[in-house]
Amino acid sequence: MIVVRNKLDLNFHIAKFKKNNKQIGFVPTMGALHDGHISLIKCSKQKDDIVVCSIFVNPTQFNNNEDLIKYPREEKEDIEKLKKAECNIVFIPSVSEMYPEEDKRVFDFDGIDKVMEGKFRNGHFNGVAQIVSKLFSFVKPDTAYFGRKDFQQVAILKHLNENYLKHLNIEIIACDILREDDGLAMSSRNKLLTPEHRKAAPLIQKVLKKYKTRYEDFTVKELMKLIEGEINKNKFLNVEYIDIVNNNNLKTVSEIVEGETTTCIAVFAGNVRLIDNISF
Ligand code: PAJ
Repeated sequence: MIVVRNKLDLNFHIAKFKKNNKQIGFVPTMGALHDGHISLIKCSKQKDDIVVCSIFVNPTQFNNNEDLIKYPREEKEDIEKLKKAECNIVFIPSVSEMYPEEDKRVFDFDGIDKVMEGKFRNGHFNGVAQIVSKLFSFVKPDTAYFGRKDFQQVAILKHLNENYLKHLNIEIIACDILREDDGLAMSSRNKLLTPEHRKAAPLIQKVLKKYKTRYEDFTVKELMKLIEGEINKNKFLNVEYIDIVNNNNLKTVSEIVEGETTTCIAVFAGNVRLIDNISF
């Protein structure tokens, strides 16, 4: 596996592969890799000739400096995991490499950045779009892979790709959520949970799953209340928001339609913020 840390080296290797007509897949990450990330590498391995992964803890998407500082960083272990998964190139740039000057771009997402995560993490998606647009233009992949765990992020990045980066001609593929055996969605943040909070956290998925099959008995408002109430009953968990939305415009629905609707939730387990979702 080739490890590159600057744009010039990355460009050199990408150009060589492109010249040989290799199809390039790309998996952007912030590191502290777990099997969820590796599943994206595997998706790409099945489809592409060359898999590129990036590891970069992007400061512009953190609206809380403490969160940025405590974000886990495990470069050595990450490189080993990527080698094992047969990733071809890992790009690990520094902050000055990605932001030689302040990025002042402001993207318009037609409102889908204003709901759910966007309401509670001011500027988060603009930061995600800044870094992903830079990474896309450096890597120039044919295909890029993102996890459905970050449901709203996928919608935002599809919008970015369609409306701002069409000239790059990149296909975005959304991959399924990988979970621990007890149902908790894999996340780099799970490492930050205390044992009590870790034990409580699978309840989030359990409750979402329970109401996925019973939705016909309730109105959307009742469902949201019931889910929130059951999770909050556990003293280690505190729901920040719950929303049942249309998959395309992310607006709260008045009626659930299978294949078109998703429940999204953010829950504090102590001071660790977990997100999850389930589609009908
Ligand atoms: P990060 O949180 O490291 O996640 C990288 C990719 O892995 C994202 O597409 C995310 O949705 C996916 N992922 C995380 N947990 C997953 C799971 N349990 N199952 C499947 N996929 C999972 O998301 C980011 O980084 C950043 O915002 C980034 C896009 C890299 C921009 O900085």
